[in-house]
Amino acid sequence: MIFESHAHYDDRRFDTDREELLTSMQEQGIETVINVGSDLEGVKKTLALAGQYGFVYGAIGIHPSEISDLDEETYEWLREQCIHPKVVAIGEIGLDYYWEKEDEVKRSQRYWFCRQMELAREQGLPVIIHSRDSAEDTLKIVQGIHGEQIPGVVHCFSYSPEMAEEYIKMGYYIGIGGVVTYKNARKLKETAARIPLGHILLETDCPYLSPEPERGKRNTSMNLKYVAKEIARLRGISYEEVVEATRENARRLFQKVK
Ligand code: NI
Repeated sequence: MIFESHAHYDDRRFDTDREELLTSMQEQGIETVINVGSDLEGVKKTLALAGQYGFVYGAIGIHPSEISDLDEETYEWLREQCIHPKVVAIGEIGLDYYWEKEDEVKRSQRYWFCRQMELAREQGLPVIIHSRDSAEDTLKIVQGIHGEQIPGVVHCFSYSPEMAEEYIKMGYYIGIGGVVTYKNARKLKETAARIPLGHILLETDCPYLSPEPERGKRNTSMNLKYVAKEIARLRGISYEEVVEATRENARRLFQKVK
């Protein structure tokens, strides 16, 4: 059974068939789903989904592109949600310099990234990190805040194998999704082949980033089989081995998952 470590079923693109999709998911081999909040509204919907479906758990946090949602009051509200038995992680949090070029906003991203890392430490929860076009600053912050004391995953990993090793040294996991199936994803294929299997998690980031042969369509956790197959091919091991190892990895990281 597959452990989906990063999905956004609260997304509008699932409004037409969300219930049908989630109800059939376990029959299709998806054992557990972590639904990841990225803004305040998404966090609220994540909590509702986790309440409605036994196999769905929630990560709560504010994405770097959505930090205008954060102030002391909403931060306090996030903290209060952490005791919810189905809140298993803080995320997604991090830095995104792809969409944001202004220094002042970048500074604000770094500030709220640190605060949410501290929240995870205080609550004893792992983190789900988003990092785009900000490799150096993300690593600097995670190392500076003693990331080795705050377990986590760098989701939708897009950097080099050397950068992955820096996180693995701190005990981090590397989230690999649909991009690994794309022909031009040379660097990520190399990372997926080289890093220890004990540090890889499967994720979709659905509705985004559908793997081949579904590329361009709306993504769902059912497409994780293509991701697992590609990782197996790159490493020269079996599909079952990839599914089993990534499931164990995820259960080691997200300890509140039953
Ligand atoms: Ni995401």
